[in-house]
Amino acid sequence: MTITAQAFVFSEYGGPENLTLQDIPVPAPAAGEVQIAHTAIGVNFIDIYHRKGVFAPKQPLPSPLGMEGVGTIRAIGPDVTGFRTGDRIAYAGGPLGGYATHRNVPTARALKVPSDLNSETVAAMLFKGLTAEYLVHRCVTVGPGETVLLHAAAGGVGSIACQWLKANGVKVIGTVSTQEKAEIAYANGCDEVILYTQDGFQMQVAEITRDKGVSVVFDSVGADTFTESLRCLRPRGTLVSFGESSGPVPPLNVASIGGLGSLFVTRPSIAHYTADRRELESAAQRLFAAIGDGKLHRPRVTSYAFEDAASAHADLEARATTGSVILVP
Ligand SMILES: NC(=O)c1ccc[n+]([C@@H]2O[C@H](COP(=O)([O-])OP(=O)(O)OC[C@H]3O[C@@H](n4cnc5c(N)ncnc54)[C@H](OP(=O)(O)O)[C@@H]3O)[C@@H](O)[C@H]2O)c1
Repeated sequence: MTITAQAFVFSEYGGPENLTLQDIPVPAPAAGEVQIAHTAIGVNFIDIYHRKGVFAPKQPLPSPLGMEGVGTIRAIGPDVTGFRTGDRIAYAGGPLGGYATHRNVPTARALKVPSDLNSETVAAMLFKGLTAEYLVHRCVTVGPGETVLLHAAAGGVGSIACQWLKANGVKVIGTVSTQEKAEIAYANGCDEVILYTQDGFQMQVAEITRDKGVSVVFDSVGADTFTESLRCLRPRGTLVSFGESSGPVPPLNVASIGGLGSLFVTRPSIAHYTADRRELESAAQRLFAAIGDGKLHRPRVTSYAFEDAASAHADLEARATTGSVILVP
């Protein structure tokens, strides 16, 4: 049976004002899908890139929005095994359409949610936590005795990655834009925090590491930090460029990273680190276990009513949020 959901859609690329709430039909779930009523929805910086049309190829318009949600199954499509009506599930990494009261989700992306975690916590931690999981454990190998630089250490991914690195015995230098965020970064486990909007960060990293440089830079800021990040690495260190919240990274002359110390540069995506179902499940298990055994604290959550998605976008884009941002229908 087709039902009517409320969903955010945008018909032009641009600012948050382009998000409009509409009634949309949701058909009965197709083969391999379940239909859920969302109980909490994750807001991620990637939603802003989608809304602005940053990625090539751009998604066709009008477009739904949102890559992450938690909800209760209300209908099951044909050929679905392992899920039942009433189960609470979560998904992260698409398909687009999370900013909706109801939607159909392919079970290939669906994960059962541990009963001791509420929906808000899961919506705050799944996409960002799966990102932190692959960055810290699978994209690079970094362990006790090593020092890393982590930008935006009071943000969504940054807060979780920082706690996980610290729990793994890594020394973490975090960057943030304000003193208030510095307090949060320290609470996340940063050993040192740099206010990078004041005087940059390269000199302070050199001072902290006694000119040795760091093993890894986790750089989600992009345009404003990329070049300086490269200069913070020790010889044979790795720049993990995993986002561009300040704008696209400048072109890289590959020859230049030889002169800087035989560096490695990678541009990873959660899509490639969780495409395989077994990898997705084991990453989620590692995340839920880390929350369960206290390695990761329940996240700071900045929560907005579902109808206020445009405000959530405006605040996230203006660097006015800390921790994870969610919508609650
Ligand atoms: N590649 C992947 O697989 C993957 C997956 C998930 C997320 N990401 C990336 O990870 C980053 C963090 O995502 P998130 O959802 O957790 O967001 P977030 O960290 O909560 O918010 C972004 C933060 O970036 C910092 N920032 C620096 N310059 C900025 C600017 N010009 N405009 C806006 N923010 C700026 C701000 O922190 P300060 O105020 O402290 O500077 C801001 O709070 C994003 O770049 C996102 O694209 C990548």
